[in-house]
Amino acid sequence: MGLLAIIGGSGFQRLPGLQVVEVKPLDTPFGAISVPLVYGRLAGHWVLFLPRHGEGHRLPPHRINYRANLWALHVGGAQRVLGLAAVGGITARFGPRVFAVPDQVIDYTHGRDQSFHDDDAVAVTHVDFTDPYCPELRMDLLHACAVAGVAAIDDATYGVTQGPRLETAAEITRMERDGCDLVGMTGMPEAALARELGLCYASLAFVVNWAAGKGEGAITMTEIEGHLGFCAERSGPILAALAAGSGAP
Ligand code: HPA
Repeated sequence: MGLLAIIGGSGFQRLPGLQVVEVKPLDTPFGAISVPLVYGRLAGHWVLFLPRHGEGHRLPPHRINYRANLWALHVGGAQRVLGLAAVGGITARFGPRVFAVPDQVIDYTHGRDQSFHDDDAVAVTHVDFTDPYCPELRMDLLHACAVAGVAAIDDATYGVTQGPRLETAAEITRMERDGCDLVGMTGMPEAALARELGLCYASLAFVVNWAAGKGEGAITMTEIEGHLGFCAERSGPILAALAAGSGAP
């Protein structure tokens, strides 16, 4: 099955239930990772943990060094990578506190380092990205949600915006026309970089607010934090079930 890495997002500076065994600083050819890699045991199984926003949630989505993070997980031994994502809900099925395992992504970000193949010295490489998420890890994740007793929607298109500001109502209307169900800021280029490295990558998304113009009035941090706390707590058993389903401890 291969070593599982979990990339924590907002609400996941620590991983619930993780027994930390070793913390490894790692240099990469692409610069600094968000924090030293954490090796630990979750439900008795080895996992790697990397909170993408860094210590104290200091790195906004557009300043995360996605290349360094994915490279470090790769050389650190991960073969499967789960990205956690707090998102806004656009379409009716995706209200606050809903969990989803997205199956498609649309990238609206700009100015981020999108590829490891940036160097003139190597031949141009185009990876297939028709299905951006790893089907095996998606299945394992949906199974883990079922084991944990958390309902999760298994088809969702995740639109990734640049941030750090939230969107306008018109931008969300456009995204809905494009086919997006969810909006977040960190899903890309993370998924594409994982694919370039041959890592099996999937995302567990949980809705922490109605996207701009879809709820009542302005989006508040109080609202987001309330839903985030709830979702973070519910994620614990899902992650434990996923780790436990990973084969030999
Ligand atoms: N937009 C973008 N990113 C987000 C949102 C949102 O509404 N909620 C959580 N992350």
